[in-house]
Amino acid sequence: MPKHFLSISDFSKEEIDSIFENASSIESRWLTPDVRRNNFCLASFFAEASTRTRFSFERAMHWLGGNVITDSYAGLSSSLSKGESLKDTFRTLSQYSDIIVMRHHNENWPDEARKYSRVPVINAGSGSGEHPTQALLDLYTIKQKFNNLQGLKVMMCGDLKNGRTIHSLAQLLTSYGCELFACPARTADLDKFNIPTKYKVKCNSVEIEDADNVLPDMDVIYMTRIQKERIDHDSRKITHLHRSAWESYYDEFQLNSSNIDLINENAIILHPLPRNKEISEDIDEDPRAIYHEKQIRNGMYIRTAILQQILNSGIS
Ligand code: NCD
Repeated sequence: MPKHFLSISDFSKEEIDSIFENASSIESRWLTPDVRRNNFCLASFFAEASTRTRFSFERAMHWLGGNVITDSYAGLSSSLSKGESLKDTFRTLSQYSDIIVMRHHNENWPDEARKYSRVPVINAGSGSGEHPTQALLDLYTIKQKFNNLQGLKVMMCGDLKNGRTIHSLAQLLTSYGCELFACPARTADLDKFNIPTKYKVKCNSVEIEDADNVLPDMDVIYMTRIQKERIDHDSRKITHLHRSAWESYYDEFQLNSSNIDLINENAIILHPLPRNKEISEDIDEDPRAIYHEKQIRNGMYIRTAILQQILNSGIS
């Protein structure tokens, strides 16, 4: 008969003594350098949807020989949904792990989390705020192609107000001397889609009807989707006007077989993904469209490098 533990009455006093003795021996070994080195653990805490970021971080930790504890529905399945504070959640996670990677719709949470975590926190996307590791992998991808970034012309298209990948990448590109061309989606309210001034980036503005005219001069075209969930979130009540506004963007500007030939032979097309309709599938096989292989794989290498660097620098 298997021994089940369903009620406290299932434990005899002898069994309890034995569990305590064992736990005490585990406790004394848990944090010893040797045991620790072989048991590094990433807590992957995602309270928003993710495919590339979460899987690449987790793959990266496995590749380094570490472990992963993961919650991909953290907003719903963690104790946050029972009203636990961020403070208590991160105090807890940092007792179980060596690095925490987090994604949440609240822009301020990574900053808050770092105050309460005893282990390093990595921001894997904070609302409409930032997505720093995506920016690093994007820059790495651009650098592999062009090496010299000074004066490189980069056009950023789509939801520039709400796209966190845009905010991090624009800052990075500016600091490396690239010239930015911001082509915000035109919706009912165009202003809403410009890069917020707090990110302090200097861009040339491109009107959507001029986008095709600007394409031939660009070295990098960085496409993004309209962040519908954030528009919904911002305005709370989504109106027909809002919906048709973001949907009509795809009629106003889309990369497809009719304008792909305008793009320089040596240019590259990037997209952090997921894609909606801003890039038509009929150009996926174009050699300049490197979002489905190179850019995705680079995410794994960059995140492995980041984790390794944190582990090497002797966590906490
Ligand atoms: C982006 C994100 O989550 O910010 N995707 C990603 O991480 N690769 C882009 C998006 O959601 O549009």
